[in-house]
Amino acid sequence: MSPISRPRGTEDLLPDRLAAMNRVAEVGMRVAGSFGYREIATPIFEATELFVRGVGDTTDVVRREMYTFPDRSGRSLTLRPENTAPVLRAFGESSLRELPPPVRLSYAGPMFRYDRPGRGRYRQFHQFGVEAVGDSDPELDAEVIAVAWDWLCELGLGGITLQLNSIGDAQCRPAFREALLDHFAPHLERLPELDRERLRRNPLRILDSKDPETEVLMATAPRTQAFLCDPCREALARVERALHAYQIPYQLNPRLVRGLDYYIRTTFEVWHEDLQGAQNALFGGGRYDGLAELLGYPAAPGVGFAAGIERVVMLAPPGPAPAPPQVVVCSAQDTVTSLAIDLAQRLRRDGLGVLCDVGRRSLKGKMRAAERSGAGVVAILGEDELKARRVSLRRLSTGEQVAVRVEEASAQVRTWAKASVTGEVGQ
Ligand code: HAM
Repeated sequence: MSPISRPRGTEDLLPDRLAAMNRVAEVGMRVAGSFGYREIATPIFEATELFVRGVGDTTDVVRREMYTFPDRSGRSLTLRPENTAPVLRAFGESSLRELPPPVRLSYAGPMFRYDRPGRGRYRQFHQFGVEAVGDSDPELDAEVIAVAWDWLCELGLGGITLQLNSIGDAQCRPAFREALLDHFAPHLERLPELDRERLRRNPLRILDSKDPETEVLMATAPRTQAFLCDPCREALARVERALHAYQIPYQLNPRLVRGLDYYIRTTFEVWHEDLQGAQNALFGGGRYDGLAELLGYPAAPGVGFAAGIERVVMLAPPGPAPAPPQVVVCSAQDTVTSLAIDLAQRLRRDGLGVLCDVGRRSLKGKMRAAERSGAGVVAILGEDELKARRVSLRRLSTGEQVAVRVEEASAQVRTWAKASVTGEVGQ
């Protein structure tokens, strides 16, 4: 029988990788917390309709990438491909909507898209993100960008550029859409099938095209900025002013359109020099003022971003190495096993990290393993120690050794640990 392996595009997060991913999310939560964002967790599956209505049935995400299944009672459910629609649903149906706006929320967790797996592209991936709900001030757009930017800076991530655009609103976007259609209509036969389909279903998406023929026609295509109505233009100017105040550099990118339908006005992405093009952004986001109504709730304007944690881990400098155990307890024979366990538990209750090596290997072998583990102290228990209820403690950095009563062991370990911090090695 061939062994069963994990589904394509998924990962087993082994301890080192999981620690790196958790750290990235924890730093994000801490930075977001310093801006007043509080963590929320929504279900991993939702009614399919939430994404069809919220994300939009012309988007690639909804048409091609959702993990959708009927449950046992025939309801159509979908593993969440993103978390903005779920957070808005949670806002709409909870007491959150009674709080003074904006309500600042952050999240981290798995998302699912049936995408072609590749570098930094998974079918189960993880996002860290924030949503600020209930307020339409453009300064809030800059605030969520600042959360993301400060987070990436704190992780030491260089080589990033912020791409900013406004895709207009219900007033001005139709004219832009028409202008795009007029521009490309005489050249339809030169376009690849994918771009023709984009023009049919959602013309703005053609700005995302990587096709060389389309690129040539794009050079003379109409630009979003020229079509913005006064309120959209004013909103973009306010976002820019606030970004200056945050001292966040950005590039205005009139071709930046996002793959989800709920955006209005501000859209943004952060690109990294090692990732290629808009499809491989580190994070993306924008304003989505009509989304709550699309989901059947009272109006709740909002803005947010989400970043792929895997992509951030791939590009950020590694975090600190995992801390080794402070003490390894090595026992010589079976007869001292219970004393070894008793000692280890006492040390742990005193707040120390302890690895207990009570197997049948020789004491010498155990000592060697303890040295390799990077532990600070080895606690040795043999027959002599058992009789005297004492333990021999060896400080590995200096080789010094003392025999103390079991009850005194943690105080001795702490004295050595303190001496190491203040540089008094050898005392
Ligand atoms: P999105 O651009 O679809 O936006 O995804 C955000 C980020 O998730 C991407 O920039 C990327 O880093 C990561 N990502 C997306 N797909 C994959 C994948 N298959 N594998 C690995 N990482 C991936 C959203 O999801 C919006 N909900 C963002 C938002 C929040 N807008 C407003 N608020």
